[in-house]
Amino acid sequence: MKVLKDFNFKNKRVLVRCDFNVPSDEEGNILDDFRIKQTLPTIEYLIKKGAKLILISHLNRPKKKERKYSLKPISFRLEKLSNKKVKFLADCIGKKVKKEIEKMKSGEIILLENLRFHKGETENDENFAKKLADLGEIFINDAFGTCHRNHASIVGVPKYLPSGAGFLLGKEIEILSQAINQPCHPLVVIIGGTKIATKINIIELFFKKADHLLLGGKIAESFLVTKGVLVDRPPLEEKEILKKIERIEITNPKLHLPTDVKISLPSLEEKYLRRGAIGTLRKEEEIFDIGPETIKIFKEIIKLAKMIIWNGPLGMYEREEFEKGTKEIAEAIARNRSAFKIVGGNNTVMAITKFGLIDKFDHVSTGGGAMLEFLAGEKLPGIKALK
Ligand code: 3PG
Repeated sequence: MKVLKDFNFKNKRVLVRCDFNVPSDEEGNILDDFRIKQTLPTIEYLIKKGAKLILISHLNRPKKKERKYSLKPISFRLEKLSNKKVKFLADCIGKKVKKEIEKMKSGEIILLENLRFHKGETENDENFAKKLADLGEIFINDAFGTCHRNHASIVGVPKYLPSGAGFLLGKEIEILSQAINQPCHPLVVIIGGTKIATKINIIELFFKKADHLLLGGKIAESFLVTKGVLVDRPPLEEKEILKKIERIEITNPKLHLPTDVKISLPSLEEKYLRRGAIGTLRKEEEIFDIGPETIKIFKEIIKLAKMIIWNGPLGMYEREEFEKGTKEIAEAIARNRSAFKIVGGNNTVMAITKFGLIDKFDHVSTGGGAMLEFLAGEKLPGIKALK
């Protein structure tokens, strides 16, 4: 795989795939810019080498063109962080975009609009990939967080341009490869959050590698509903995912699911908050965090770990009344000085930043699903495409 120092970038149009899929609110305001900051070394290097920089990325999963998913706010943040002018264009392909790019001078930066405003991106459409490739002369992938997706800008573009990895992608591969090649035991893997479709296959793979698998968040809830521990609830997932969950043995001693949770009733939220043992939950009660007994069990396991991999909050940590599970687990990981600690994913990074613990981890990955897949031993399509 080629890296930055293998190219001559002087006066070249360099198409850089970034992962600027940062958490943002309904108005499109950026809530955390960790991923943008992590791309700065590549951007600064390319500018220094005289490239014309064309940055591309997706943001969220838009079904149609929507203002709240525009990358425009990212161009402002990037300007601030890099101290360089960043020109934003309102599309990522087309005549207008080509024209603007033709006018570029060495050292200039253009950020294109959300790739996922075109369905060709997620459908990995060959034509769309060609149109993107046509904008540059060299392709650099620095979007580690999206390398597990078979999307046009990840696997299609490198077919048409000399391609290589940026600093961030290189760093993620190096550190995470060391972790897979020299795993320390007990290896504890903690998976929470949502995106079960991405994570379910990885959970199966981790049964082979890890000593303990701790589940929280929506993922744990899906398990508990599918396995019939939480009764009278409609299935949370599509059939295909349900089948996969059903295949997993709930009695596997490596698997640790919550035994109690914090719940509330959506309509009476403020008044109605209680801790409930899993078996006592009523069907209208919604789960928002793991309970004290689960926290205690998880902490005991974490204390003895020699390697910890964590992705996905254990509950709705954004709200104070439901942050305890995620906070106490983060603190327990931070306290374990003898373990190698890897954490990744937008929400998890945001949570440890909120709790002031980001410096306590040995590696903070920009990838969520991508990090888990890589660590589980999967070959990521985006990395394969560069080889
Ligand atoms: C992520 O946040 O994991 C990446 O940006 C990929 O996003 P996706 O899960 O929407 O494909």
